[in-house]
Amino acid sequence: MERSQIQELIRTALDQLAYSYVPYSHFHVGAALLAKNGTVYKGCNIENAAYTPSNCAERTAFFKAVSEGVKEFSAICVVGGMNGEATEYAPPCGVCRQVMMEFCDPEKFEIILATDPEHYQVFRLKELLPMGFGPGNLAES
Ligand code: THU
Repeated sequence: MERSQIQELIRTALDQLAYSYVPYSHFHVGAALLAKNGTVYKGCNIENAAYTPSNCAERTAFFKAVSEGVKEFSAICVVGGMNGEATEYAPPCGVCRQVMMEFCDPEKFEIILATDPEHYQVFRLKELLPMGFGPGNLAES
């Protein structure tokens, strides 16, 4: 991906921090998911008084896209931090990595971790979820 496109995704993810609903952890997370068709799906984390129904920002973005019929993706940018300040990288949790594994090619899908548009690092899903279990494992031979 081009640097300018990465920086645009980072800005979109940072904008989402304002929408995080985090009365319990106060840890805001924003995500910007780029579909192969060019559409960007935004997500924030949404917590719940019963704790377990909470949803991560990445899954919010994925589920918004899939619920609209979009299932092919090239990259996601994730940002986050306490009280909405993205001072350090916020790597996706294991559950979100597994959701990525369902829809994305681990060799190609890019995960961008950032603190601001000038400071970021790009990973492939395979690096963050080595030997992941995906749809291919259930394919009949
Ligand atoms: N969180 C995310 O939104 N994404 C992740 O991948 C890691 C964790 C959220 C869940 C919860 O609302 C808060 O961060 C603290 O765990």
